[in-house]
Amino acid sequence: MNWKAVAAALAIAGMAFGSVTAADGTHDARIALMKQIGGSAGALAAIAKGTKPYDAEAVKAALTTIAATAKVFPDQFKPGTETGDDEASPKIWENMDDFKARAAKLSADAETALAQLPADPAAVDATVNTLGASCGGCHKAYRIKK
Ligand code: HEC
Repeated sequence: MNWKAVAAALAIAGMAFGSVTAADGTHDARIALMKQIGGSAGALAAIAKGTKPYDAEAVKAALTTIAATAKVFPDQFKPGTETGDDEASPKIWENMDDFKARAAKLSADAETALAQLPADPAAVDATVNTLGASCGGCHKAYRIKK
């Protein structure tokens, strides 16, 4: 798959799940939130790669979604929801403070970027790299690839 296809798929997933209310700590709620984050990251990546033109409003919307969504994401891992057929590692519940700190860092980095909105594709690219480190780090530690 090329970047355009990935970004398009992510954007569509983000939109389709945008209306899901996620307050109950279920597998669906987690996935819906991550899909929103994934869709927003895909939108930023498309601008960074030049497959979509720079659009300040789109950058702002994506960063706002990431900042807000990362904040509520760890709340979906309540005690007693460890089991399930999802990709959430049991290590999340053993290291909840670290898990929360990683989500908080992603949210804080997105807010920092919002405060000084990346003004061109190169700046968006730098932001994607910063945020991407949080995505990759947390997935490596806490996401089981099935
Ligand atoms: C605090 C940890 C954490 C951070 C930070 C994080 N993720 Fe995730 N992500 C997870 C976990 C855990 C899952 C698996 C959830 C499940 O299956 O219940 C996941 C799943 C996903 C999925 C799969 C959703 C699906 O359809 O199954 C996508 C896409 C995703 N993350 C994108 C991202 C992107 C993009 C970023 C960075 C902008 C990011 N994530 C940051 C923990 C994180």
